[in-house]
Amino acid sequence: MSLVTTKEMFKKSIEEKFAVGAFNINNMEFVQAIMDAAYKENSPVILQTSSSAIKYARIPYLRKMIEAGLQEHDIPVALHLDHGPDFETCKMCVDNGYTSVMFDGSKYDFEKNIELTKRVVEYAHERGVVVEAELGKLAGVEDDVNVDANDAIYTNPEEALEFVQRTGCDSLAIAIGTSHGAYKFKGEAKLRFDILEKVKELMPNVPIVLHGASTVIPEYVEMCNKYGGNMPGAKGVPDEMLHEASMRGVSKINVDTDLRLAMTAAIRKVFTETPEQFDPRKYLGPGRDLIEETVRHKIKDVFGSNNKA
Ligand code: G3H
Ligand code: 13P
Ligand code: ZN
Repeated sequence: MSLVTTKEMFKKSIEEKFAVGAFNINNMEFVQAIMDAAYKENSPVILQTSSSAIKYARIPYLRKMIEAGLQEHDIPVALHLDHGPDFETCKMCVDNGYTSVMFDGSKYDFEKNIELTKRVVEYAHERGVVVEAELGKLAGVEDDVNVDANDAIYTNPEEALEFVQRTGCDSLAIAIGTSHGAYKFKGEAKLRFDILEKVKELMPNVPIVLHGASTVIPEYVEMCNKYGGNMPGAKGVPDEMLHEASMRGVSKINVDTDLRLAMTAAIRKVFTETPEQFDPRKYLGPGRDLIEETVRHKIKDVFGSNNKA
């Protein structure tokens, strides 16, 4: 099977009330683990690369690794640009075989975000590529995504409707309390499901995207800390909330941090328990295995996309 866009998988997700996992990739172990997991669970899947992942791994390598995965596994896979910062980066991905791009104009004001998103939509649609846009601001820190908690702004549902109508974007990322990275909540985890509900009332057929949606799996944080890491107070979105989101109209759930934690926890364990080990396969292998286990859990127990391929 060749790469597909997210159109069909999102249509099905809305009709059948499940979410498709969008997992960030940076190297071969991540690609293999995610594609093997999706295949074993018979699930559609989105592989996404940020612009810093592209700088790190380079597009031809990313493309070819996924093509290799598609030779092994006949499942629907979309290749998506995560947080495209500008038209040029989106264009580069459209021109290089991505089937979906995100233009992240959330740092601009409403009118500027519309103007810039529209330009990407026009270019992408002419070439059969779908576009995710973002309205509202998530707090959090990643390499290329850095918003202070005080600047985070929940999405306004009425504005969201106007935004989608005026830009023609295919899916919309909204801010309802999630944030990027490993430190999402100081106290209890809380998501604004009332905002999601209003958005879905106004536009039931528009696929909604949740960024910053890692669980920050407590076992992996403990494992990192036990084997020499230092991540006090790391906290994410509980599985039950993500499951609820998937049932209430979120079509795409983004996960990066949990896979980074899985890889890091597994590597730290090998390094600590067998300090004499220096064969990379002996620590990258367990990292890959734990990512696969994590993705299977999310697909089957949280997002409900198993057997939806
Ligand atoms: O939301 C951002 C993703 O987690 C990608 O992060 O820019 O460090 O690759 P990155
Ligand atoms: P996490 O940091 O919660 O994994 O979010 C990833 C994400 O939103 C990628 O766009
Ligand atoms: Zn994101």
